[in-house]
Parts: sequence; structure tokens; C-alpha cells
Amino acid sequence: MGKDVIVALDVESREKAMAFLDSFTVEKPFVKVGMELYFSQGPAIVRELKERGHKVFLDLKLHDIPNTVKRSMACLSGLDIDMVNLHAAGTKAMMEAAMEGLTRPDGTRPLLIAVTQLTSTSQERMEADLLIEKPLDQVVMHYAKCAAEAGLDGVVCSPLEAGKVHGACGAAFLTVTPGVRFADGDVGDQVRVTTPARAKELGSDYIVVGRPILQAADPVAAYRRCVAEFVG
Ligand code: C5P
Repeated sequence: MGKDVIVALDVESREKAMAFLDSFTVEKPFVKVGMELYFSQGPAIVRELKERGHKVFLDLKLHDIPNTVKRSMACLSGLDIDMVNLHAAGTKAMMEAAMEGLTRPDGTRPLLIAVTQLTSTSQERMEADLLIEKPLDQVVMHYAKCAAEAGLDGVVCSPLEAGKVHGACGAAFLTVTPGVRFADGDVGDQVRVTTPARAKELGSDYIVVGRPILQAADPVAAYRRCVAEFVG
């Protein structure tokens, strides 16, 4: 898969998701379904999106014992999703089990991406709550390397970290990067942001974009602007 823009379908109902997608008459955006939409709508929402011709990144961030993650990933893989993720903190054994569970009988599987440390976790909280005393960026890179060693396809990270991740884990190891804003747009609650064009320069493989598209006066135009800047 080449570079692409993934639209975060951060809405609470099927109706809102479909109304938004109905405005796209030419493109079929790659979409991200998160916990909110999946837990309220169940697997039916994924089936509907796939039937409509969208690629789906299922952002459920699995984290459990290896056997449970393996079996759960097998269920998700059966939904014909294109990308799914887990927490690297579940250990390499969990990530390897996830890869096994995801692999379909015909040998194909969705891309498997790891979350390293959540961007909501500060150095201070990581030390106090998790008893991890190394610098946060070192922890993130270590988790990325563990994910690569377990055979995963990539990590979720900031576009600002994409180069470092590629340096440590290889150019083919994917960087899926949120925190993207237009140069003239609202930052919202994101702290470290980059434009789609800058994310491309920094080597991101996929940008995940929510509010700059969902809340735009013309979402289709905003999506096209992202694609033009990021994919070219
Ligand atoms: O609206 P916005 O463009 O900020 O949406 C970004 C999406 O990426 C949201 O679905 C958010 O949960 C997700 N995300 C993030 N930062 C991370 C991981 C995921 O913003 N570190």
C-alpha cells in the first residue's frame, strides 16, 4: 500500500458516519473506525463500510494475554479489515500471537500497527503511574523496535517521529501519524501538529485526519486538500 490519508470517523452514530461518507461521490476514503463507533454499532458498521468500498483501519488498541489477543484478532481479520492495532506494552509474545491470529487461511492479513506510549501519557505520569523511568522518546523507540522484531508492520506516532522510527526499524516499517492540521486551521486539543505537506516531507506513510475534515465547511474539499498535499 502506498501513502494515503485515513479519515478518522470520530462520530457516535451510523447515521452521522454514512451522512458524512455520502458527500463523497468520487473518492472512497480509507476510514478509521475507533472504539466509540465500533462499540456502539458492532461489526455491522465495518461490514457496511467494506460493502461501500472503503478500506478500514479498526482502531481498537487490543491489549490482553496472548491467547485472547490471538483469538480476537482472528475474529477481526474475518471482518475483512485492512489495518488494526494493539498496544506494544502487551509484550512481543502478545504481538506475535496477534500476527498469528490475524493471518487468514489464504495467508493474507490486515496490516498490524502498534501503539507505543499514548500521546496522552506524559513523562511524569509514565514514571509515577507505570514506574517506567527512561526518557519517553527512548521508551517509544524501544516499543517500536519490539513491534518490528515481532513482525508487525508499523507504529502509530507523530509525523515528527517518523524519520527516527524509519531509521531504527527500516524504511518499510510503516508510520501512521495523527496530529495533522492545515497551516491555516484550528489546532484543537492536539499539541504537536504538522501539515499534510510537512508530514509527507518527514516520511509519514499514512496520516490520520479527523476534525480538519469532519468539521470543515466542505469536507470533500478538505479531504482533497489533504490528499493533494500529502500524496501529491
Ligand atoms: O480530529 P483529529 O485530526 O485530531 O483526530 C485524530 C485521530 O487520531 C483521532 O481519532 C485520535 O483519537 C487519533 N489519535 C491521535 N493521537 C494518537 C493516537 C490516535 O490523535 N496518538
